[in-house]
Amino acid sequence: MQIKIQTTADGSPTLFLPEMDEHYHSINGAIGESKHVYIEAGFKQCRKAEIHVLEMGFGTGLNVLLTALEAKNQKVKVFYTGLEKFPLPPEITDRLNYSETALFQSIHRAEWGKFEPVSPYLHLKKIKTDFKDFNFPDRYDIVYYDAFAPNKQPDAWSPELFGKIFSAMNRGGIITTYCAKGSVRRMMQQAGFTVERMPGPPGKRETLRGKVV
Ligand SMILES: C[S@@+](CC[C@H](N)C(=O)[O-])C[C@H]1O[C@@H](n2cnc3c(N)ncnc32)[C@H](O)[C@@H]1O
Repeated sequence: MQIKIQTTADGSPTLFLPEMDEHYHSINGAIGESKHVYIEAGFKQCRKAEIHVLEMGFGTGLNVLLTALEAKNQKVKVFYTGLEKFPLPPEITDRLNYSETALFQSIHRAEWGKFEPVSPYLHLKKIKTDFKDFNFPDRYDIVYYDAFAPNKQPDAWSPELFGKIFSAMNRGGIITTYCAKGSVRRMMQQAGFTVERMPGPPGKRETLRGKVV
């Protein structure tokens, strides 16, 4: 599949898949969106000294990078599991110039299938799998739900999948996504989450956040 690198409105890069007509991040700002949706509304809301994060759609590794930087700020220990069916080749990831090049490279060079330290604060386990085949054997405090949009990839958004994730989360846990669709909100509610609409990043009115109460 052809992959193009594009610059978004805040100057940070994202990827575009022409065949699917889909971007990996908001064209209004990739870093801005990731910080707003996942770091501010998700990770920073957890007050534990050790935080277990699950990412649905590891992709470019941008969310891992931003989480590792925030973990260092807060001096908290993070165990981060990223699920990805289509790992990106180094020819692409080497050209994504986010920041912290050494850390970004450790994230991409880390072995798949086991926890590896990529910074003093973050252990990363990348798992090559389809979301639908994964059994969620661990427990998570924070979930970043970053699949392609429901109209482009309907099978990545289902009550069953949200139900499996809900069962794998600790009480007080938070799931956050850029998606604001009513159908997704209802799936999350059906799975057991208490869902709120959150103000969106630039270019987007709302996003969704669910809690395990
Ligand atoms: C919107 S992109 C976001 C990626 C990533 N969070 C980032 O910041 O770059 C969605 C990601 O989900 C992955 N993906 C799509 N379908 C999947 C599936 N069924 N199972 C696992 N990963 C999938 C895609 O390959 C892509 O990397």
